[in-house]
Amino acid sequence: MADRLKLVDLRRQYAPLREEILAAIDGVLTDMNLNLGPNTRAFEQEWAEYCGAKYGRGVDNGTDALQLAMYAYGIGPGDEVITPANSFVAVVEAILAVGATPVFVDINPETYNIDIEQTRAAITDRTKMIVPVHLYGLAADMDPIMEMAKPKGIIVLEDASQAQGAKYKGRRVGGIGDSAAFSLYYTKNLGGYGEAGIFTTSDEAIAEKVDMMRQHGARPATRYKHEILGFNSRLDEIQAAMLRIKFRHLEEWNAKRRAWAALYTQLLGDAVVTPKRFPDYEEVNYVYVIRTPNRDEVKAKLLEADIESGIHYPIPLHLLPVTAHLGYKEGQFPVTEQYAKEILSLPLYAELTEEEVTRVANTVISTVRAAASVR
Ligand SMILES: Cc1ncc(COP(=O)(O)O)c(C=O)c1O
Repeated sequence: MADRLKLVDLRRQYAPLREEILAAIDGVLTDMNLNLGPNTRAFEQEWAEYCGAKYGRGVDNGTDALQLAMYAYGIGPGDEVITPANSFVAVVEAILAVGATPVFVDINPETYNIDIEQTRAAITDRTKMIVPVHLYGLAADMDPIMEMAKPKGIIVLEDASQAQGAKYKGRRVGGIGDSAAFSLYYTKNLGGYGEAGIFTTSDEAIAEKVDMMRQHGARPATRYKHEILGFNSRLDEIQAAMLRIKFRHLEEWNAKRRAWAALYTQLLGDAVVTPKRFPDYEEVNYVYVIRTPNRDEVKAKLLEADIESGIHYPIPLHLLPVTAHLGYKEGQFPVTEQYAKEILSLPLYAELTEEEVTRVANTVISTVRAAASVR
């Protein structure tokens, strides 16, 4: 029997890269320059340039990139940070870790990204930061966010973890807001082999603060003089060496993801709600998310057919136990809440085959049709 079709299968990606990756690891270990070594420095520069930002600072993971950014901007107790309710928990962790208050808003029903008018309405005198999350590989609508934030001195920190390489009106994410955080977790469009992350900005002072904070709050030149609250969160040199190899393939992989997403959309037709495409956006399809009231049935049938699927995310951020103390109630963000019950992520990665995409789509269609005929 064929292997289970995984939601993300990196074994296929690794096979053709194996020799190069192993040689890169050997190169790092031969050089033994492991603390912010040449690969880390080069990757930071290459990635920042790609995003259209001046500085890149490699860190341990995407959550750290968010948290260090918040500390660097001086976000703390009494400050409010606006972010969408449909997202991964990392932004909330960072906001709570610095002692600030998360303020959730609903998502736009078509883009699944932060709703612009609700963001505008959520701004108060205490709002210090907005964190739009470029969810599923599609950029958030950045222009109106920047326009509402700038005059009020509100910082815009992009969470671009799910959108490496995505474009918004011709500009790449990671270089549009005041700064950006990227996870480079191994399942991302560009991921290391394990944990990794990077922070980008064009603000020199903020880049320097993040630089210090990731190495115990000291400047490299005055190593044991710890000036500000620091952490230990440096991008690992071996990860950086491997990321540089993978980075060369990112555009090609993203194009393949877009092609498989387009095929899913074509095959699924109107059996389920498929993601919309938007003319000014070049998405990178981190995940392919469909919507159907028969979500749980479809998920179960896919598994019976040996096909994995995912839910990004089953519990909205405002209804999680970790945010219960904030006092949000069910019903406050109806789009996010409804979608949480209906969304399903199908397998998506560059190395899929047409036969696999067709098999997944056919299983979804037959399950939805069977459910409709029972009703
Ligand atoms: C939108 C988003 N933000 C932040 C993170 C956190 O990144 P990490 O897992 O690298 O800490 C992730 C993914 O893991 C994510 O998808």
